[in-house]
Amino acid sequence: MRDQPDSPARPWVVLKFGGTSVASKARWTVIRDQIRARLAAGDRPVVVCSAVAGISDALDALPALALAAGAEDPDRALAEHIELIEGRHLTHADQLGVDRAVITDDLRALRRLATGVALVGETSPQVHARIMAFGEILSTRLGAAWLRAEGLDAAWIDARTCLTALPDPTRDPARAFLSAACDDAHDPTLGERFAAAGAAIITQGFIAADDDGRTVLLGRGGSDTAAALFAARLGAKRCEIWTDVPGMFTADPRRIPDARLLQKLDYDEAQEIASTGAKVLHPRCLAPVRRHNIPMQIRWTERPDVQGTTIRHRRDDKPRVRAISTRRGQMLVSMDTPGMWQQVGFLADVFAVFKHHGLSVDLVSTSEMNVTVSLDPASNVLDRARLDALRRDLGRHCAVNLIGPCATISLVGRRIRAILHRLGPALAVFEEQKVHLVSQAASDLNFSVVVDEDQCERLVRSLHWLLFQELAHDPAFGPPWSSLAEVDKPAAPAPQHRPWWHDARDALLAEAARGTPAYVYHAPTLDAAAERLCALEHVDRVFYAIKANPHPDILRRFDAHGLGFECVSPQEIEHVFTTLPHITPDRVLYTPNFAPREEYAHGLDRGVWVTLDNLHPLDAWPELFADRDVMVRLDPGKGRGHHDHVKTAGARSKFGVSFEQLDRLAERVAAVGCRVVGLHAHAGSGIRTPEQWAEIAETLAIAAERFDTVRHLDLGGGLSVAEKPGEPGIDLTAVDAHLAAFKERHPQYALWVEPGRYLVADAGVLITRVTQLKSKGPVRYVGVDAGMNSLIRPALYGAWHAILHLDRLDAPPTLIANVVGPICESGDTLGYNRRLPETAEGDTLLIATAGAYGRAMASHYNLRPPAREVLLG
Ligand code: LLP
Repeated sequence: MRDQPDSPARPWVVLKFGGTSVASKARWTVIRDQIRARLAAGDRPVVVCSAVAGISDALDALPALALAAGAEDPDRALAEHIELIEGRHLTHADQLGVDRAVITDDLRALRRLATGVALVGETSPQVHARIMAFGEILSTRLGAAWLRAEGLDAAWIDARTCLTALPDPTRDPARAFLSAACDDAHDPTLGERFAAAGAAIITQGFIAADDDGRTVLLGRGGSDTAAALFAARLGAKRCEIWTDVPGMFTADPRRIPDARLLQKLDYDEAQEIASTGAKVLHPRCLAPVRRHNIPMQIRWTERPDVQGTTIRHRRDDKPRVRAISTRRGQMLVSMDTPGMWQQVGFLADVFAVFKHHGLSVDLVSTSEMNVTVSLDPASNVLDRARLDALRRDLGRHCAVNLIGPCATISLVGRRIRAILHRLGPALAVFEEQKVHLVSQAASDLNFSVVVDEDQCERLVRSLHWLLFQELAHDPAFGPPWSSLAEVDKPAAPAPQHRPWWHDARDALLAEAARGTPAYVYHAPTLDAAAERLCALEHVDRVFYAIKANPHPDILRRFDAHGLGFECVSPQEIEHVFTTLPHITPDRVLYTPNFAPREEYAHGLDRGVWVTLDNLHPLDAWPELFADRDVMVRLDPGKGRGHHDHVKTAGARSKFGVSFEQLDRLAERVAAVGCRVVGLHAHAGSGIRTPEQWAEIAETLAIAAERFDTVRHLDLGGGLSVAEKPGEPGIDLTAVDAHLAAFKERHPQYALWVEPGRYLVADAGVLITRVTQLKSKGPVRYVGVDAGMNSLIRPALYGAWHAILHLDRLDAPPTLIANVVGPICESGDTLGYNRRLPETAEGDTLLIATAGAYGRAMASHYNLRPPAREVLLG
């Protein structure tokens, strides 16, 4: 694909990838695919990369460590630090399958430089820049080698041969080497050089060279700036900044999930949003692209399908607010003087004090008696000593009051003054709030107020609602963050994770025609889950926690796999015996909690395993347990699980005997004359850490030493399943490997588990019919005939279930809606901000992963019957 000398020049596109975007093979796959897409579109990609995440910080610390190490005594800390940096890159090379030799020379040079600093006991900004540059050099060497191995004609180019620093006017070496500005003039020879080198260019952000060829850094935000500089020098048609968020938003999306993606911005607006708080882009990087009129795009590495923010010149000059930015940690200095307005040079005197203390002032407001300024910690070191010194020196000119921490809230947009009158209702949120300072930028691009920091979030939330709620259909505002973050990813699931209902779609639609809502269970998926658990080498017995789904057909299937059954009520016990008349009592486990005396009596009469989870039964009803085998539930100390409601251990949970009570337990057991044959613990439900069950086993083994009768340890249930697309399910092999290590140390105990969710969650779906559609304000609703009375998990735990359009499974999503049921509560929402294809009344939706705790927790609330159930063979 190299350009022939006479071929028409194809346009350049610069793509910048940050530290997390170059840190794994998965991320490099995104880069590879983007390069391929650009080449296929006839563009010439130039990829500008940062150092692998965390490496720049590690390199930054290296000179100081080298100095501390000294020449005489090569220091362990320094050696370990260098090894850490080397190790990260060597492992990265191995993960990419790239020959380590690609980076050995650079690693050796870095080591020599660091030991050199230790030897001479000196460093300088120049040396610091050389050390830091290795981060980008190493990440690009590895990436370029991997891309070549993937069959791309990718040329590695040293950015220091392309970007030249302008002489620093202050002649301060720290600025010259660590925060250099570069020439952004168009350079046709650079394009020629790149075109001859390869189809795609891989180069570094953050680094450049001075006139003498010495390495310099571009300062904070330097990689974005480097990308903009490359775009300017090449005359690129676009500069793309690939990062870990989709773009710029109407507010900080981590705090305001309803913040809308800003898809189209003008350079001025983007610059202002970046300068007033949003951390997506460094404000400095916009100047070169703006000067050369090159559009800049922000793209989301995790979701290349999302269009992100495009920044370019826009003719439209309508007044508007685009975003609410916030900057926290601001310090206000309020200066009062009665005579200020008559006094010549007062402002000059006080600002000289700020200058003297090296403090740069952000906002200023003045009145006859008072001047208030704000200091931003992003551009100042605001430590106590400095502020005290400032207060002392200012005190010679006026009465000083320091107010903080404060937050600056800025409304950003264009021609803000022209719409201030329309902002009236929104600004009413400040009514009960002390506003310390108001400032209107001369550029008319922002209007800022400074308030106490602890009020900031509340105010921004209200302001955001008031300013943006009406703009639901304005095409300039993209989807809300909540929908981008939450939606099912459009990428097709990997074949091995392809859920069963893809292939059973026709059967499901036929079932829907027979009546909705309906829970449909898939027998082969139930069998597969049971087989996986039975195959665990170090688990001796599996009891199915029938509370998750007591459907008789499901019990029969699990019986056929030889599973036991864990029950928590006499009704569950009887349900098992009725459904499976042949079953022997030793396959039934009874684990009641705060149950009355007669329920224990019932369990003992039935001959099932009975678990005590309190001392009360032994204290109050000793006759019941005399000469009996019992199990005891202990509190392992720390609850786990997907929601607080399902964590069943720890000081504030009602379950289990605590370790402090072990003496009392032993004493009661002896007094009553029962035998503790098993210990049990269940920490919670929906646990993702595979070491959990071995940890419980270790805990129980310690307690088991108190009773020489213990033969088995019941490690509880809690195994999680993947709920969101792309989320890994629990790694059963890892669970088993941890248990193997335990068994090696404690071979005397049989290990039991009692999972519910793991066995049934994936096998069940809830199918439901669309009843009505609606838009109200910014929100669209899809109504369905399944309500919270059929599936309460979203309302009760905020649980997330994938929702799919069963009639049009593979159609692209076109709407974002809340999927709601017919029940009389707002909590009757099965999914918020879900992406669905065009949806109409009568369509069928599928709610996934609903086999566990779905129908089992259903009710007749509103006297609506819950979904019926059916098993597909
Ligand atoms: N053993 C005991 C003593 C339990 O209390 C439970 C669940 C289990 C085993 C089974 O846990 P699993 O393997 O299913 O996580 N309704 C909640 C789950 C509550 C679980 C209560 N106990 C949900 O829908 O997420």
